[in-house]
Amino acid sequence: MAVLGAGVMGHGIAQVAAVAGYEVAIRDVAQEYLDSARAGIENSLGRFVNRGRMSQEDMDAALARIRYTLDLDEAVGDAQLVVEAIPERMDLKHKVWAEAAEKAPRDAILASNTSSLSITEIAEAVPNPGRFVGMHFFNPPALMKLVEVNQGEKTTEATVEAVKELAMRMGKTPVWVRKDTPGFIVNRVLVTYLNEACKLLDGYGVEQIDAAMQHKAGMPLGPFMLSDLIGMDIVYNILKVFEEKLGPEYAPCQRITELYEAKKLGRKTGEGFYSYEARPSVSEVQAEGFDVKLLLEPFVEEAEKVVAEGISTEEDVDTAMKLGANLPRGPFEMKRVGLGEEKPILTEKRGGVLKVTVNRPGKLNSMTAEMLEMIGEALNDAAIDKSIRCVLFTGAGDRAFCSGADISQFPQLDVEGARRLSRLGQTTYRKIVELPKPVVAAVNGYCLGGGNELAIHCDFRLASEKASFGQPEVNLGLITGWGATYMLPRLVGKTLASEMMMTGRRLDSEEAHREGLVNAVYPADEFEAKVQEFIKTLVAGPPLALAAMKRLVNIENFEEASNAEADEFSILWNCSDLMEGITAFNERRKPEFKGE
Ligand code: COA
Repeated sequence: MAVLGAGVMGHGIAQVAAVAGYEVAIRDVAQEYLDSARAGIENSLGRFVNRGRMSQEDMDAALARIRYTLDLDEAVGDAQLVVEAIPERMDLKHKVWAEAAEKAPRDAILASNTSSLSITEIAEAVPNPGRFVGMHFFNPPALMKLVEVNQGEKTTEATVEAVKELAMRMGKTPVWVRKDTPGFIVNRVLVTYLNEACKLLDGYGVEQIDAAMQHKAGMPLGPFMLSDLIGMDIVYNILKVFEEKLGPEYAPCQRITELYEAKKLGRKTGEGFYSYEARPSVSEVQAEGFDVKLLLEPFVEEAEKVVAEGISTEEDVDTAMKLGANLPRGPFEMKRVGLGEEKPILTEKRGGVLKVTVNRPGKLNSMTAEMLEMIGEALNDAAIDKSIRCVLFTGAGDRAFCSGADISQFPQLDVEGARRLSRLGQTTYRKIVELPKPVVAAVNGYCLGGGNELAIHCDFRLASEKASFGQPEVNLGLITGWGATYMLPRLVGKTLASEMMMTGRRLDSEEAHREGLVNAVYPADEFEAKVQEFIKTLVAGPPLALAAMKRLVNIENFEEASNAEADEFSILWNCSDLMEGITAFNERRKPEFKGE
């Protein structure tokens, strides 16, 4: 494979391909660009190794698969795939492609990583436009899963299929953009939404809208902070193209235009909608008075237009928006559950089952005190509602069941606050054990820390094959606080429980099954159906006999263990190691513990 352009995108794509096992040549026009690409790749892979996500041998093997060259012939001469990631100028693209298409094998796939130019127009420079396609990776390619595969007017479906396949082999999720249209899927929906937010500034404040969208609509960032992050020049220029190609309603709104003209481009210039002398943040109280529907409705409408115009399918639009814009749900999924404020715990009663979904997918369903309270209320309700025969816990999204207590809340706690949090988790999860009805955890992804503690208080654990289980508190300089010290050894034995808690080692679903931590493991694509099958038996079972059996298998003394756990958990707030652990998590580095 060859990558043309050694910039951030180019070398990121080369890195992803090399890690996936492909031989890659990176070509640029000056040695200094190649040198900085090499440094960038080594640095990025080095971080994966430091975080334990890749072995040193795999890193070395990936590096050995990358060649750096100034010679176009050498780069593309035997390439089966050529990906171009040079600056977004049509004249440059035409020049590079005219040469590269000539030198590449006739049957090679020619792909542009453009995010803004027309594939059809770039393809005018090549003799075989049927094999020319858009392959738009998201930045940074090493971390972002999405690839928009953009079909030009002459691109054949065979080319589209081949590129989708290649993207998958690189560990990416491709979505098919069937029409060559400005902004493809993600930029079209996202940047239009940013513009719509701006149009509301006559009646509402920047912080108010951002706070509402972040804290109430579940967006990872509010629209104005996001505009600042993307850069006002980029937002403005994309909207100008939309205005020209899609219609006047897409024209950049006045505030974006003003900021662009004043060169207040956002984070990169230190000022945009916000000033970046200090890192801005918005709190939940600032959201008051803004109804998130005002922005979610146009957001969904734009996604509907993308489908109505035959650009893509609802499913692909949802996938693209989740993976490309880090949204917890796609627009069509949002519409299905109802546009409005997101609740972090969702409950649904159907067919004798109370389904409780931990719903903070953007934060891997990490658990706040408020969420524990909501779970407690749902369990109280299940205890008295005769129509409920079984409770099912699961996590929203496709990555996590629950990644544990929300670490971002820890720095605000003191010893007393930590004790309250430990107690709240313990008493909430204790309700699961005391509920005279079977409770099932459908573990669909990360099941860590307080998430694993939630699962081990349930009567049954069903795992998707991509689930993983662990108690990583030790990495923060902390101990488990919501019942694991008592419950886990009783499920998997002291030997493994101690290893999990004292080393933080994670178990994949197969090992969890072997060790008796889970009842069954199912393939991810059959998981929901298998869970339904499993709980059907429980719902149909004899409630009194089930309640009696549950009571009997759980006769033990929690009291002493819970007191001791809460004491030990909270006392750690007096130790500097814990803050070091939390800071290291936030800074994505290994902590240095000193035992103080
Ligand atoms: N508390 C708060 N935020 C959490 C979290 C937690 N327990 N687990 C994940 N998140 C957040 C991350 O900070 C990140 O937020 P951001 O996008 O705003 O930066 C988001 O969820 C995605 O997580 P990220 O770490 O980027 O995903 P990953 O795939 O690189 O790693 C994990 C996944 C689960 C391995 C990693 O998130 C992790 O180690 N989480 C903490 C687990 C833990 O220690 N739990 C016990 C707490 S006592």
